Amino acid sequence: MKIELTSGKTLSATKNESIYHALRRQGIYLVASCGGKGVCGKCRVKLLEGRGRIISTGKLTPIDIDARFVLACQTFPEENIFIEIPEESRLVVGERIAISKSRDLFELLHSLKAEISPIVKRIQLNLPPPTIHDNISDLERLKRALDEKGMKGMRFSHGFVSSMATALRKADWKANLAYTDGPEAIFISPLKSKDRYGIAVDIGTTTIVVYLVNLTDGRLIDVGSTYNSQMRYGDDIITRIVYATEGGGLEELRDTVVSDINAILTPMIERHNIRIEDIESAVISGNTTMSHIFWGLSPQYIREEPYIPTMNLFPSWKAGTARLNINLQAPVYTVPCVASYVGGDIVAGVLASKMHRSDEVSLFMDIGTNGEIAIGNSEWIVTAACSAGPCFEGSGIRHGMRATEGAIESVKIDPRTFEPVINVIGNGKPMGICGSGMIDAISEMFLIGVIDQKGRFVREVKTGRIRDGVDGPEFLIFSRDGRDIVLTEVDIENILRAKAAIYAGVSLLLKEVGVTLDKIGRAYIAGGFGNYLNVDKAIILGMLPDLPEGKFKFLGNTSIAGAYLCLLSDTMRRKAEEIAGKMTYMELSVSRRFMDEYMSALFLPHTDIGLFPTVEKLLYKLYKK
Ligand code: FES
Repeated sequence: MKIELTSGKTLSATKNESIYHALRRQGIYLVASCGGKGVCGKCRVKLLEGRGRIISTGKLTPIDIDARFVLACQTFPEENIFIEIPEESRLVVGERIAISKSRDLFELLHSLKAEISPIVKRIQLNLPPPTIHDNISDLERLKRALDEKGMKGMRFSHGFVSSMATALRKADWKANLAYTDGPEAIFISPLKSKDRYGIAVDIGTTTIVVYLVNLTDGRLIDVGSTYNSQMRYGDDIITRIVYATEGGGLEELRDTVVSDINAILTPMIERHNIRIEDIESAVISGNTTMSHIFWGLSPQYIREEPYIPTMNLFPSWKAGTARLNINLQAPVYTVPCVASYVGGDIVAGVLASKMHRSDEVSLFMDIGTNGEIAIGNSEWIVTAACSAGPCFEGSGIRHGMRATEGAIESVKIDPRTFEPVINVIGNGKPMGICGSGMIDAISEMFLIGVIDQKGRFVREVKTGRIRDGVDGPEFLIFSRDGRDIVLTEVDIENILRAKAAIYAGVSLLLKEVGVTLDKIGRAYIAGGFGNYLNVDKAIILGMLPDLPEGKFKFLGNTSIAGAYLCLLSDTMRRKAEEIAGKMTYMELSVSRRFMDEYMSALFLPHTDIGLFPTVEKLLYKLYKK
């Protein structure tokens, strides 16, 4: 059977293959937050001609159905079909995306008083060329020269030895031997070759960022990023773990992430005329599941109680094993993880925030796809993951999307007319609403009385914007050309659950360590989402604790910043290991007290308004005056 697209492209569909799977097999990817289970309603396509067996219409509205929309993952062609893929259903991966703001990295490195000391060290060797009288083997010749320099116990892998003979001759026996601590020989390069590069990689559940760095002076040469193409298999970590544990899934996910990194690297290398062999080391920073998948380790037991990862401290494996398109012998350092749901990205984040150096207690929050928290100072750090879920990245929200072009990022609602004024990323046509837009919209609706403390619509409010939709009551945020963007009561409930998980995590961790809010000196917010976050609104929502605004500091992508530090300095790598070793992990999912905290935080802003004096004052001003 054929699937014809409005773009003119024709694809095939096998018997009992859904439109979603057929498109995916042929390289066309749809937004599939639920991984093709028919629950998220994001894979809408318009069936213009032909028939298909429709298993479920899930989240489609009667208007959608009248307009011939179907869920691609729930529709199986029964004859040749002709379809249109709306813009909002297309998953654009592999394209450069906006980089979240990162602090001046070089300044950061200096402020941490770290000397540049790359993972790979070099020693100059001047070997006498072999003669008929001095005819020992190449490796013995190398060992003899190392002995003379007092270097004993060097290990030589098969990969090193197999390229050594040619490399020594090419260098005319005057060469640099690159080696790592161990010590282990890595490769031979000509003396004149001064170019030394490395890559720092942040593997996020949603995005992948690569920094190309000059290892001699620490200069950031280029930055590239892409959406993590693993999103084809689902938005959240759990969907990926499930996919990885299915037959062949792990290899597929691994290939996807490595291909993404290599695809970012290739144009960078070309742009700067860099030889692949001169990229001599790499640092990977990611959550525990992403780090496992990158190395081809099954994340299966991360998901099963008692939630045990295969490893937290990764050995320094080679780029060849990782299949990275750099010097195949290059060591790849993985920022150590702490537990199943607190990974190297959080260790890197703590390192970059410098909270581990301060005497005052700091709060670190990474509000990305999951929501991780660390509280501590130079002496101790406690950490937890709050299972907030990826709703702030658009998943599980009717018209939710990531903070990218076309996303409504801020919302202001007129208290008299209830007309929303919106800002759209890129100033184009709105296609959905992202995390910061959701937070704005809900806190605004709460302040002007459109929703109550439980997030339910107040039906007495006289506005046509509150209406009944396919999922129950909803608020119309935007409407044009038959495309409505709404926030439903179910969406609000999901967002309240996510914010409650984050607040409950912070609140419980604080109680566990006996620290009160007024003792928090700084609150660091990390993650791409943090760049667009309006602190006041997040406090009204009850997601962030009610601290003075001046205490909050946005750090952007701290995972990549920490990876950069580890790439350049031995001290930073040791620090990262020290931080990971010092972090006490609390498993919240089994804690009764977490459930209690969570239940109290499900309200706007909280059951105990006394915890949010700023919001209390604001409400008093609005309603009691
Ligand atoms: S409904 Fe089709 S991917 Fe979620």
